[in-house]
Amino acid sequence: MPKVFHLIYLSHAVADLSYTDIRDILETSRKNNSLAETTGVLIYRDGYFVQVLEGNKATVLDLVEKIKEDDRNYKLKVLVQTESSQRYFKEWSMGFLDGDIEANTTDALLDLFDICYESEKTDEAKIMEMVKRFSESVPPLK
Ligand SMILES: Cc1cc2nc3c(=O)[nH]c(=O)nc-3n(C[C@H](O)[C@H](O)[C@H](O)COP(=O)(O)O)c2cc1C
Repeated sequence: MPKVFHLIYLSHAVADLSYTDIRDILETSRKNNSLAETTGVLIYRDGYFVQVLEGNKATVLDLVEKIKEDDRNYKLKVLVQTESSQRYFKEWSMGFLDGDIEANTTDALLDLFDICYESEKTDEAKIMEMVKRFSESVPPLK
């Protein structure tokens, strides 16, 4: 079983980000990620993005360099880089949850977002625990 590389980051969305921008990001992500066998989830909340990316290490590291340069977000901070034998979002080429929409929020989403937002106070293992919990709480959307 090849190892799956997981990378989680927090970034600021630009102030004038629109729903069209998010739709464009998701459309490109789903197309590219399917081809690259990258999976994950993008969470938007309160002007921030938290993204979980999982897949081949070199592919994911290249991708995050591209996202860092993307002017729809800034101050991207990588919080977790780890390998495991599990893929948590295997059905999702890039799932999306808008954490500002009440119907989308769950305790698991809020806990994951909060722990990423306050990452100075935590460690990678704790964040991965929240990712696992969050992945178990969401339906297997495509
Ligand atoms: C918050 C955020 C998340 C993104 N996530 C992905 C992603 O998962 N996969 C992807 O291919 N591009 C993602 N992008 C877009 C990339 O920055 C870049 O625009 C895109 O990969 C270029 O693809 P193209 O070369 O096919 O045009 C993201 C951008 C932002 C701002």
